[in-house]
Amino acid sequence: MNIVLGISGGIAAYKTPELVRRLRERGADVQIVMTASAEEFVTPTSLQAVSGRPIRSNLWDKEAEASMSHIELARWADLVLIAPATAELMARLAGGGAPDLLTTLCLATEAPIAIAPAMNRVMWANPAVQANRETLEERGIQILGPDVGSQACGETGAGRMLEPDVIADAVCSPEFAGAVADGILAGRTVLVTAGPTREPIDPVRYITNRSSGKMGYAIASAAHALGARVILISGPVSLPEPRGTDVVYVETAEEMQAATQDRVADADIFIAAAAVSDYRPAETSAQKIKKTRDTITLELVRSPDILASVAALQNAPFTVGFAAETENVRKYALGKLENKNLDMIVANRVGSDCGFDYDDNAAEVLWKGGEKVFDKMPKSELAAGIVDVIAVRFFETRGDEMQPTLSIVSIKE
Ligand SMILES: Cc1cc2nc3c(=O)[nH]c(=O)nc-3n(C[C@H](O)[C@H](O)[C@H](O)COP(=O)(O)O)c2cc1C
Repeated sequence: MNIVLGISGGIAAYKTPELVRRLRERGADVQIVMTASAEEFVTPTSLQAVSGRPIRSNLWDKEAEASMSHIELARWADLVLIAPATAELMARLAGGGAPDLLTTLCLATEAPIAIAPAMNRVMWANPAVQANRETLEERGIQILGPDVGSQACGETGAGRMLEPDVIADAVCSPEFAGAVADGILAGRTVLVTAGPTREPIDPVRYITNRSSGKMGYAIASAAHALGARVILISGPVSLPEPRGTDVVYVETAEEMQAATQDRVADADIFIAAAAVSDYRPAETSAQKIKKTRDTITLELVRSPDILASVAALQNAPFTVGFAAETENVRKYALGKLENKNLDMIVANRVGSDCGFDYDDNAAEVLWKGGEKVFDKMPKSELAAGIVDVIAVRFFETRGDEMQPTLSIVSIKE
């Protein structure tokens, strides 16, 4: 999970190096954004050392803006966590102001925002602060704490920042992921397949392909970020489980088919991003095949066509296929869209410079009567764009009840 950790100017800022360590221990990448006042309480040098990333604080820093602009930072975040959040910071957020980097990116992000307020107990009880808290809560901002206990000012009461461990546990928990999931796919179930399959030849050998699972995993994360309940059926990959998704691990095409069949009835949208082996050995040897002959012949038979079988269901979900081709990408993809009766297909070229196992990818999303072209970009961004398009088409063709407002600007019909 990519966390932008915003630090504002409260005394509890001295606890933030500890908080960064706790978040990183739980697998998060942490980018710190400090307010000017925060720098009075904790040094950027210590925070840079523990986060492993340059600290951002100045909206007008030309060099930092050139490497990762505040808008890119806002897009990069899976979560914006502000700890400690001062009374002043809460007021700026509630008022929609953007005089500094932290509040500007809060306005520009589609990621969930959580704040851990910290202040003197009388400040916390002040009606102005409580009104701001209420406003922020109503807008879906998660308020973590504050804690009750002894305060730096010598008083005792409500206003202490929660301990770093407690904050880290809270934001990295599946419950938190569920609580903030109120995007346009909230209440929808998205079933995603990802990764390669392995078709055994004997107990030690198998047929597989170069799929890393990165695209499918990014798609699962993007669907989760739009609020969907996501079930990810994954072939063997070396990737961490995407936050907030239910992952079902399988190995062969037949296992992937069975896992899909078991869960497809719950799905509103099915996205088949897995690179399923088209063929499998007709027989699997029970023992390791010995090196006795100069040549051996392996007979292969067709694996089940998971995508076609889902698209053919009577109550099929909105079904999206992927076509990874080395040549005639568009032609083959359109053929697959037609032949398998899909709602949409994502076509991408694979080769020595793109596709499988690369972090960047380009794609064309095609459907009957429309398309959207994505130039080469990181797979996480591409996945977010693809899922946006899928959500728009899903609501246009199946959904009745809501007109989503989305970040994509144009779909060429
Ligand atoms: C020593 C000291 C400690 C402070 N502690 C807090 C605090 O714990 N919580 C708070 O809301 N404000 C506190 N303040 C006030 C904020 O620093 C002040 O409102 C500042 O403008 C906040 O700016 P920022 O929200 O941009 O970081 C403190 C000020 C000083 C001088």
